[in-house]
Amino acid sequence: MKTQVAIIGAGPAGLLLSQLLDLQGIENIVLERQSGDYVLGRIRAGLLEQGMVDMMNLAQCGDRLNREGLIHRGINLCFSGNLHNIDLSALTGGKTVMIYGQTEVTRDLMAARQKMGGNLIYEAKDVAIHNLDDDHPRVTYTKDGQAFEIVCDYIAGCDGFHGVSRQSIPAETLKTYEKIYPFGWIGLLADTKPVSDELIYVHHEKSFALCTMRSASRSRYYIQCPLDDTVADWSDDRFWSKLSQHLPAETAAQLETGPSIEKSIAPLRSFVAEPMRYGRLFLAGDAAHIVPPTGAKGLNLAASDIYFLSNALIAFYKTNQTDLIERYSENCLRRVWKATRFSWWMTSLLHHFPENGAFGTKLQLAELDYLAESTAAQTALSENYVGLPFR
Ligand code: APR
Ligand code: PHB
Repeated sequence: MKTQVAIIGAGPAGLLLSQLLDLQGIENIVLERQSGDYVLGRIRAGLLEQGMVDMMNLAQCGDRLNREGLIHRGINLCFSGNLHNIDLSALTGGKTVMIYGQTEVTRDLMAARQKMGGNLIYEAKDVAIHNLDDDHPRVTYTKDGQAFEIVCDYIAGCDGFHGVSRQSIPAETLKTYEKIYPFGWIGLLADTKPVSDELIYVHHEKSFALCTMRSASRSRYYIQCPLDDTVADWSDDRFWSKLSQHLPAETAAQLETGPSIEKSIAPLRSFVAEPMRYGRLFLAGDAAHIVPPTGAKGLNLAASDIYFLSNALIAFYKTNQTDLIERYSENCLRRVWKATRFSWWMTSLLHHFPENGAFGTKLQLAELDYLAESTAAQTALSENYVGLPFR
């Protein structure tokens, strides 16, 4: 087979790129290791910056999200038992964020690809990249026991943290930066009314908690947990009672509990790989970087990578320009590092780090107190939270 761009991975990054290229008449094939149902079974964060919403609209995939997404103008920080509202919108000249699950983003992109007759190959196994150094790289894979080969101009590695793309870059070229946090998050999804209209990020003596939602009748909650915990350690009862201990009494009184629909534990990690391009291979999304979920930057960073990548490929195919291709890595990484810093900062501010002792907790509380009373500090948080510009 021959195509212009081979895309590895049908997560939000790969699907969004495929859709944007197809709309410009650029041929592409997407190879996904898992089945479509498996991809849709993964529950991830659900907060979209305006930049991501704009990309979905540009991809002609924004209809449902514009109808069903919940617009949020602020967030709450909770510490020492008190709630403090941060008016994101007032502090950023009217910007907002949208609550809309990543699973739904993926579903909308998949439906659009199908409708346009996109070439999406699910359950493609043994994907491997070859000839990266010449003008016509190749991607091989097997499907139902048969071997296939795609010859292309460019490869987009959108295959997440555990994919093959990043591993195909020679080790001496790739530099990686990593921080592993000494805890994870247990998340619970339930068909209950969210405890608050706006998200609540809770700093608490022994662990962090987050109250978020998927819709007006579906809540998503998270609690910081030890890395060696398993879902079996967290009965629904234990989760609800622990969550309620994190909240001020009047908020806890509003907490509607119910059976969980999903529970999962995720470790927290910051990771960046540089450069994000090697010859004709581009890395985008989780293949190149991971942020801890505090601030929900993962999906939004994938969107800004695809903004830079789609523009670079469109400029090449329409006007033979290669400067955006050459600057792809540098353009992405400037924004990636800022979001990496912000996610690390929010994580550091709000979680319990036993190794930092009582001194560390006092510093967190002093910074939270400063945030609660300083418009300057709240503005810095808000600018980053609603998303830095794609440039
Ligand atoms: N071959 C083909 N597909 C692969 C391979 C492989 N060897 N390895 C991984 N994949 C697929 C995965 O099955 C997955 O569907 O690549 C896809 C990568 O998708 P995501 O992990 O969702 O990553 P990305 O599209 O970059 O989206 C970033 O997703 O992980 C969250 O927090 C992250 O919200 C962020 C967003
Ligand atoms: C979510 O809705 O899952 C979510 C929201 C905000 C975060 C993290 C996760 O910071």
